[in-house]
Amino acid sequence: MSVSSDQKVLSAVDPDIAKVVGDEERRLRENIVLIASENYASAAVLSATGSVLTNKYAEGYPGRRYYAGTENVDVAETIAIDRAKELFGAEHVNVQPHSGSQANMAAYFSVLKPGDRVLGMSLDHGGHLTHGSPVNFSGKLFEFGHYGVDIESEQLDYDAVAKVAEEFRPKLIVCGYTAYPRTIDFARFREIADSVDAYLLADMAHIAGLIAGGAHPSPVGHAQIVTSTTHKTLRGPRGAMALTTADLARKYNSAVFPNMQGGPMMHSIAAKAVAFREAAQPEFKEYASAIVQNAQSLSGALAAGGLRIVSGGTDNHLMLVDVRPTGLTGKEAEAALHVAGIVANKNTIPDDPQPPMVTSGVRIGTPAVTSRRMDTSDMETVAGFILDAVKSAGDDSALASIKTAVAKFASQFQVPGLDDA
Ligand SMILES: Cc1ncc(COP(=O)(O)O)c(C=O)c1O
Repeated sequence: MSVSSDQKVLSAVDPDIAKVVGDEERRLRENIVLIASENYASAAVLSATGSVLTNKYAEGYPGRRYYAGTENVDVAETIAIDRAKELFGAEHVNVQPHSGSQANMAAYFSVLKPGDRVLGMSLDHGGHLTHGSPVNFSGKLFEFGHYGVDIESEQLDYDAVAKVAEEFRPKLIVCGYTAYPRTIDFARFREIADSVDAYLLADMAHIAGLIAGGAHPSPVGHAQIVTSTTHKTLRGPRGAMALTTADLARKYNSAVFPNMQGGPMMHSIAAKAVAFREAAQPEFKEYASAIVQNAQSLSGALAAGGLRIVSGGTDNHLMLVDVRPTGLTGKEAEAALHVAGIVANKNTIPDDPQPPMVTSGVRIGTPAVTSRRMDTSDMETVAGFILDAVKSAGDDSALASIKTAVAKFASQFQVPGLDDA
């Protein structure tokens, strides 16, 4: 069933929600989406997500379920597992975690007991909430220590991480981040983990698509547990997965079910399988490398326009832009960009003098615009819009005319999920 026929059914039954969906489609078409963790799933991924597989209870794992009638969803889950194993060269895969946070929770439960020590990147230097924030289950259940980036280079200093690990003696070290623009040396992290007899968890949520497409080194073979969301650079449905070594397979599986979740979302698992198939195609390699080229082109153009790029550039899909040269906070810059039809989020920069709800930076990512087939020359145009918008903060009529130009520009590009339906 096509997306549009789905929508006719929805309009007839629930015009209120149909309007929300229609408005969101327009927003996705007319805006420039630069949220580093967002993307446009294909029509095939959306179709599996919206399928009847949502109806099925399938607690357990393929061939070992607590419910009858799982013969079809067993096939979907087995295909998803096999494709992910192949794509990432993993020994064991679990495709059931409902979200990246839950994939991490299960990772902790598979090798730790409450109160055990874990070392992760601090949030204000790019770590995720589930890497030990005191307001998150991770920081409440486990004793977290944190490392950060080097304040001069604004990049990881592996010797410094090794020193913190030596002092803190964690049972698990977490690498892989939410806002880190540089390549991660997973082999070096494994050396550090081994030196203190700790497990290594690589959270590749942000960079999974780059890894699948060969545009970032893989943590598989270095980290005993690799977790990931499936909806960011990987361009799949909202959800997550984990890749583990064979010896941790049973522990990880039972840490997901029955420890943490009930029935798996079979519609989402089927859509993950579709996304893994798409990511195994040769075009996905081109996509992954285009994401990085676009990020580098955009960060170069923003730097040329007077903004400061944290760490001096990017190796991956995102950049952190220090907006202080414009006199704005991250919050003000985010708001001005939003009024101009450019969607990005405020973000702390290393050693940010502003609180997390204000910040001095904006995080900008290129996965979504690259899915729309914008290229490096389009990034020059996008940089121009961004620079104009931050200079026009507070001038609503100037921002409104940028918004009109942004909508005209953005509407020229295809929207996966809508135009491939
Ligand atoms: C590195 C990292 N891990 C985990 C997550 C959590 O994913 P979710 O929002 O699906 O719980 C995120 C989300 O942004 C992330 O950036």
